[in-house]
Amino acid sequence: MKKRLIFILVFVSVLAGLFIWLPSGVPTNAAVRISAKTLHMAKGQNYKLKLKNAKSSKKAVWSSSDSTVASVKKGKVTAKKEGSAIITAKYGKKNYECTVTVSGGTKDTLIIYFSATGTTEDAAEKIQKIIGADMIRLQPLKAYTSEDLKYSNDECRANKEQAADAKPSITTVIKNLDQYKTIYLGYPIWWGKEPGVIRTFLSKYSMEGKILMPFCTSGSSGISGSMQHIRDMAEGATVKAGKDLTRSSEKDIEEWIGKEIGTADNSDKKDEKTETDMRMKIGNTEVTVKWEENESVAALREMAKTGPVTISMSMYGGFEQVGPIGKSLPRNDVQTSTSAGDIVLYSGDKMVIFYGSNSWSYTRLGKITGMDGSQMKDLLSGGDVTVVIEN
Ligand SMILES: Cc1cc2nc3c(=O)[nH]c(=O)nc-3n(C[C@H](O)[C@H](O)[C@H](O)COP(=O)(O)O)c2cc1C
Repeated sequence: MKKRLIFILVFVSVLAGLFIWLPSGVPTNAAVRISAKTLHMAKGQNYKLKLKNAKSSKKAVWSSSDSTVASVKKGKVTAKKEGSAIITAKYGKKNYECTVTVSGGTKDTLIIYFSATGTTEDAAEKIQKIIGADMIRLQPLKAYTSEDLKYSNDECRANKEQAADAKPSITTVIKNLDQYKTIYLGYPIWWGKEPGVIRTFLSKYSMEGKILMPFCTSGSSGISGSMQHIRDMAEGATVKAGKDLTRSSEKDIEEWIGKEIGTADNSDKKDEKTETDMRMKIGNTEVTVKWEENESVAALREMAKTGPVTISMSMYGGFEQVGPIGKSLPRNDVQTSTSAGDIVLYSGDKMVIFYGSNSWSYTRLGKITGMDGSQMKDLLSGGDVTVVIEN
């Protein structure tokens, strides 16, 4: 009887313990963090910063490095005048900081960018030097380590995020986006497209009514593979022709800005330079190609100057036509996910044209434009074809 009573007591106390623990729902090991590490505001705006996962956040002591720029009371930040200040929440023995930037409210152009290793940041700074706009660097909640970016490893964080079209959390809060009419949006190309931080940004902030100027840096792929996603995500925006600024001089950037801004809606223009000098025929059908600007295409163009380049292609894998170019071209292979219309260099001396998709290490040569996936399939999946490229 006594044993039974002890058992019931133990059982009840375990259950009670569970009920006390479960509703809290907060994993005991979740780290305390501040809700924004960078905060962008206009004069007069307020924003409530919070200490996430803190058991008794009321105990935090808030202070500002410059209350004339941004003051803080119990986490509520008030933007006072142009400049920047660091808001600190002291909680226990630790300090949690947020850098607040208050804009003067005079500029209507903003440069927003994400950069993992600094190349896109350099490009953003070049633009800023030319147009003098406000500038914001998007900060991921979890910074990317060099291991995270090791794209030769399928399992690295960046690769997994790209494969899943993930939207990793960001810790940048922008309160004054309404102020800006034109937004330059910059990012590195990851696996042919925009990185997840950009997807997160575009899913959190509306671009309705804004003029968007996408720019990127890349190893060689260029910006074209990201443009359709950007157009789809930036609903209601006028998306201008994007540009890869990796090797652009200040003069190139000025030219791009001059061409795109100051013109009316030209959102359906081709991105970057459209080469019209090299023509391609698949069987009897002349197709329009937007050629890449790289050394492989330059070599192909040289070949075509001496006479038509004829490539006998064969169907392969249910998604592509492949054939020998007759010469090795310079190659800069990167792991690439292809889609219908993509033209790539494979193994240095073969051209592949896709009517489906594949993932392999290629050098991009160009993209057939003005045809959708089913038209590409009709053109390429009915049997072997001959491709002729000429100047
Ligand atoms: C995960 C990952 C994937 C990448 N994929 C491509 C790619 O598909 N094509 C390309 O040309 N460069 C690719 N790159 C190279 C970057 O686009 C290039 O180095 C860029 O300039 C880096 O910009 P950042 O320094 O601002 O981060 C990739 C880099 C990483 C880390």
